[in-house]
Amino acid sequence: MTALRIVLLGKNGQVGAALQPRLASLGNLSAHDRTTCDLGDIDQLRAVIRAARPGLIVNAAAYTAVDKAETERDLCHRINAVAPGILAEEAKAAGAWLIHYSTDYVFDGTKPSPYTEDDATAPLNAYGRAKLSGEQAIISATPDHTILRVSWVYGAPGTNFATTILRLAGEREELRIVADQCGAPTSADLIADMTTDLARRFILSGAEHRNAARGRFHLAPSGHTSWHRYAIELVREARRQNWPLTLSEEDIVAITTEQYPTPAARPRNSVLDTAKLRRLLGFDPPPWQASLKDFISRLYPLQRKGH
Ligand SMILES: NC(=O)c1ccc[n+]([C@@H]2O[C@H](COP(=O)([O-])OP(=O)(O)OC[C@H]3O[C@@H](n4cnc5c(N)ncnc54)[C@H](OP(=O)(O)O)[C@@H]3O)[C@@H](O)[C@H]2O)c1
Repeated sequence: MTALRIVLLGKNGQVGAALQPRLASLGNLSAHDRTTCDLGDIDQLRAVIRAARPGLIVNAAAYTAVDKAETERDLCHRINAVAPGILAEEAKAAGAWLIHYSTDYVFDGTKPSPYTEDDATAPLNAYGRAKLSGEQAIISATPDHTILRVSWVYGAPGTNFATTILRLAGEREELRIVADQCGAPTSADLIADMTTDLARRFILSGAEHRNAARGRFHLAPSGHTSWHRYAIELVREARRQNWPLTLSEEDIVAITTEQYPTPAARPRNSVLDTAKLRRLLGFDPPPWQASLKDFISRLYPLQRKGH
């Protein structure tokens, strides 16, 4: 029997790097970064998929510079809206299943409770609008897709809120962090684990199981927090692990969104209701704090080497 051919795009991103070894365990993996498959180059994108003739495509590549997207709208749209549609067309032609990632930024954050997959979308920024268009392009091009909406992602390698706070906690005596936006910090490893589990059990195990994996799903750990409380948790854990810090938890000051203006507006509520995915996979994700300890301990040697 020939091994399943899998194409991964964005192999060096936070989620892509976590996916690589896991997807390699499922089949014959061909993993790409932007040098071998630039999502801005439609001809190259089509050629890569046609040459690979995959059974599964996982798209972890995206334009993720949320603030910069406000001034690079065309580029962001090309990568996050147009390319996923092309990918979906090629997936359909190849008879492949497409797994794609989207974002909590498709919502405006005004709902007082966690967002479900059926809630109305209303993105506040250019990145969120492009990601939503990408979802819609996929849905129109092929029924054989799984769209996983994730939020507040951290992974190594990567530059994210956690790595930034840990760096600044070794340089500054005070940090002012937004306390009125809430979400669930999500490790790239959790996303990769749940993606692989879903692929193995529902997409690769026969046509009769696939229907359950079709559509949009919210993927997040359990619980939620604010950026401010997240920063405190990071510093507390780094202190436990004897990082040389220049501040402590009390030096992290809570501020409002208005006190920290950014080019792109962000939703106040980014909390995703994961009941649909929990029902499908049959387990509850761990609390958001669970993988922070391990992440920080893996980061420490890298940080010291100046990576
Ligand atoms: N990070 C978050 O907090 C967050 C939140 C919600 C949703 N998401 C979604 O989750 C998914 C994974 O995000 P992530 O955190 O892993 O992002 P990431 O670390 O920024 O990785 C994105 C990857 O996409 C690649 N890429 C960018 N432009 C490309 C292009 N034109 N052609 C080919 N590759 C390109 C990047 O390559 P380079 O390294 O060469 O730039 C990078 O490897 C994305 O769909 C993202 O929208 C992320």
